Amino acid sequence: MKIEFELNGQVVSADVAPDATLLSVLRLDLGLTGTKEGCGVGECGACTVLVNGRAVNSCLYPAVKADGRRVNTVEGLADGDDLSPLQAAFIETGAVQCGFCTPGLLMSAKALLDDKTSPSDEEIVEALEGNLCRCTGYRDILKAVRRAAGRRGEGEP
Ligand code: FES
Ligand code: FES
Repeated sequence: MKIEFELNGQVVSADVAPDATLLSVLRLDLGLTGTKEGCGVGECGACTVLVNGRAVNSCLYPAVKADGRRVNTVEGLADGDDLSPLQAAFIETGAVQCGFCTPGLLMSAKALLDDKTSPSDEEIVEALEGNLCRCTGYRDILKAVRRAAGRRGEGEP
């Protein structure tokens, strides 16, 4: 069936199988490979995107449900060559190592910061608890989200 949705601010359409996942449509049909497939069963968070502002595991999210909705992926974070404050903070704090988990973490963090300008450490941990990282030990990831939240508090977008 044909679906149409807003993807990073632009309306796109795709012909999708009834059982297609949003992840497969993003990566295979629309060529946006920033969103990663880790476990494929809702356990790792590598595939996290936002649907109508809410973080979802796109490996489990039926593509047909995206019809008429607003989808945001990691590709939509930067403005041209200008990284978003979140992306910049991840790099500055060393929160990116192999980087496989990073797109999903960024999107979970974005959902949090869009909702709360000054989240507590507990709220950050809760927002990221579905995102697994095998490399960093999480400390620098928390530091990055705190840093990005602080910058937003200072008026950065
Ligand atoms: S690939 Fe979707 S949760 Fe792991
Ligand atoms: S940086 Fe490698 S899995 Fe997180």
